[in-house]
Amino acid sequence: MNLYQAANDRYSNMPYRRCGKSGIVLPAVSLGLWHNFGSVDIYENFSKIAYTAFDKGITHFDLANNYGPVYGSAEENFGKILKNGLKPYRDELIISTKAGFDMWPGPYGDGGSRKYLMASLDQSLKRMGLDYVDIFYSHRPDPNTPLEETIGTLADIVKQGKALYVGISNYDAVQSKEAFRLLQSMGVKCLIHQAKYSMYERWVEPELLSLLEDEGVGMIAFSPLAQGLLTNKYLHGIPANSRAAKATGYLQCDQVTDAIVEKSRKLNEIAQERHQSLAEMALAWLLKDKRVTSVLVGASSVEQLLDNLKATENICFSEEECKIIESILNA
Ligand SMILES: NC(=O)c1ccc[n+]([C@@H]2O[C@H](COP(=O)([O-])OP(=O)(O)OC[C@H]3O[C@@H](n4cnc5c(N)ncnc54)[C@H](OP(=O)(O)O)[C@@H]3O)[C@@H](O)[C@H]2O)c1
Repeated sequence: MNLYQAANDRYSNMPYRRCGKSGIVLPAVSLGLWHNFGSVDIYENFSKIAYTAFDKGITHFDLANNYGPVYGSAEENFGKILKNGLKPYRDELIISTKAGFDMWPGPYGDGGSRKYLMASLDQSLKRMGLDYVDIFYSHRPDPNTPLEETIGTLADIVKQGKALYVGISNYDAVQSKEAFRLLQSMGVKCLIHQAKYSMYERWVEPELLSLLEDEGVGMIAFSPLAQGLLTNKYLHGIPANSRAAKATGYLQCDQVTDAIVEKSRKLNEIAQERHQSLAEMALAWLLKDKRVTSVLVGASSVEQLLDNLKATENICFSEEECKIIESILNA
């Protein structure tokens, strides 16, 4: 029985931003299911996060074959969330998944081969109980597979109707340009690039962002809070309920260095002057750039998600604020 009823006012506050030169707009804030939605997590908590997200206008949910742990369990759990509540709203959702990192044993469960990508997407669709995903990504470039093979597979996946659009993730500017050219030659346009981008991780700035703008490809920034380092979470030590402290978290304790925490403290002071939390300011700082279509956040609680959503209320920065932030980041 479907007990979930979406909020009637779900489209009243979220800004939507055009994804490159495409027909699709994405919410300024999207939700990723890398952590907090696995078989080690609690259904009541993560389903509430997903439903709250949709109630607040988050139409885009991002997954990958190996999100969990265990691998596959985030897709399985998202399948349950769909079945128990979101499925009637399927046409209001942009659901993405990916393949490219290790998923199953043996030589065909990792990388960028046609064999892997085709089988993986079929498995993902089954786990989520879907006929198609909205976006399918090559999760990373595979140096051992010709780019033509990986990209040709993406094009075929669109032609088969198993994904409406395709994207690439973790490709550098040179690889991206070649991927866009190949896709175009196969009659398919790349919708979006998913790249790690935050105040602490700025590799996209020198080349990739302007390439995406020139090519009319959207950009979604993953780990925009640097996995929690750009929030108030670690300002006073490493809490037990944090990603860094959890055995299954990707963030390691040794990444929470004194130098990073000191930077976050200084940034937090600027955020307070702006009447924002550090998380809000870190997201707003990315969204001030129109080339960023959406920031792809994670959340372990409804409270965190609601905090992150407030970022969209003020994405303007004065020149003075930008200068101070740069000086903190570059110190
Ligand atoms: N394409 C790729 O290769 C790739 C790689 C990584 C991620 N991604 C995508 O990007 C998504 C987001 O990545 P991410 O989870 O690393 O993003 P993130 O937003 O940088 O970090 C999320 C974590 O930060 C903490 N947090 C979030 N909001 C907070 C708030 N308001 N106050 C305090 N703490 C807060 C939570 O940590 P605690 O759990 O400690 O509470 C949360 O789990 C993933 O789910 C996935 O969809 C893609």
